[in-house]
Amino acid sequence: MRKLSERYIAGPELADACRVIRRQNAAGKLATVDVLGEDVGSQGEAAAFVTAYLETLEAIEREGLDANISVKPTAFGLKLGYDLCRRNLEVVIQGAAKRGSFVRVEMEDSSCTDDTLRLYRELREAGHENVGVVLQAYLRRTLDDVRALADLGPDVRLVKGIYVEPPEIAFQDADEIRGSFTAALEALFESGAYVGIATHDDALIEAAIRLVDGRLLAPGDYEFQMLLGVRERVGNELVQAGHRLRIYIPYGRRWYEYSLRRLQENPKIAGYIAADTVSRLLRL
Ligand code: FDA
Repeated sequence: MRKLSERYIAGPELADACRVIRRQNAAGKLATVDVLGEDVGSQGEAAAFVTAYLETLEAIEREGLDANISVKPTAFGLKLGYDLCRRNLEVVIQGAAKRGSFVRVEMEDSSCTDDTLRLYRELREAGHENVGVVLQAYLRRTLDDVRALADLGPDVRLVKGIYVEPPEIAFQDADEIRGSFTAALEALFESGAYVGIATHDDALIEAAIRLVDGRLLAPGDYEFQMLLGVRERVGNELVQAGHRLRIYIPYGRRWYEYSLRRLQENPKIAGYIAADTVSRLLRL
C-alpha cells in the first residue's frame, strides 16, 4: 500500500504538496489540495485538520501557487456533530476568503449526503461565496439534487462516486453511471452552475467536450479535474486543447484509506504491486 501511495500522494509534508503544485502549475494545471484523513474521533483531531488547512492556505498564498483546497466533512467532525463541523468549515472558508481562495466540500458515503448538502446550502445562504460541493453520478438522487441546488447558482464538482453503495440508492452498472453523469452535467450547465468535471473516463471527457462546445462555453466557465498520478497524458491533451484542468493533490501521513480507494478503482495496480513484491521476494 505504501508503494501504491507514492503514485497518488505528494508526500507527508506541506512542503511536498507545494513542490508538486509548483510542478503542476508550471505545466499549465491548477491544483486542489487535500490534507489526508477523514472520520475523526475527537474535537481535537478535527481542530488539527482546521489548523492544517489554514497552514495550507497560507503556504499557497505565500508561494504564489494557483491552488485551492478540498475538505471532507468527516475530517471536520461531521460524525461528532453537525454544528461542530459547520463551525470548523466556516473557519476554513473565512480563512480562504481572506486569501482570495476557494473551498471544495467533498462528498463522502451516503450517510453524509443530506448533511453535506445542508451544510453547503447553509454556508451559501450565510453569504459565503467561495465554497463548492460535490455530486456523485452513481446516486439515483443526483438529478434531484442538481435541481434542488439550482437557485444557489452552485459550484459543483461532478464525479462518478467512489464509496460502495447498495443498488437501492446507487446505480451499479457502468453505462448507467455514465448516463447519469452526462445527464447531471447537462442539467448543471442548464442551471448555470460552474462545473468541475472530475473524471478520467474517455467517454465522459468526450461527452463533456461535446456539451461544452454545443453550449459555446468559454474555458473559464467550467474545468476538468483529475487525480494526481492518474492518466497524466490525457490531462496534458486537455490543457493543450485549451481547457482548464485542476489536479487533486493529497498530502499528509494518513495515506492508507485514500490509497485503498485508489486501489479499489484500479485493481490492475494491485497486480503490478503483487508481481513486483513476488519478484523482490524471489531475489532475496
Ligand atoms: P473510471 O474509474 O472508469 O476510470 C476511467 C479510466 O481512468 C480507467 O479506465 C483507468 O484507465 C483510469 N483510472 C481511473 N482511476 C485510476 C486510478 N486510481 N489509477 C490509475 N488509473 C485510473 N469521489 C467521491 O465519491 N467523492 C469525492 O468528493 C470525489 N472527489 C474527486 C475529485 C477528483 C478531482 C476526482 C478526479 C475524483 C474524485 N472522486 C470522488 C472519485 C470519483 O468518484 C471516481 O471514483 C474516480 O474519478 C474514478 O472514476 P472515473 O470517472 O475516472 O472513471
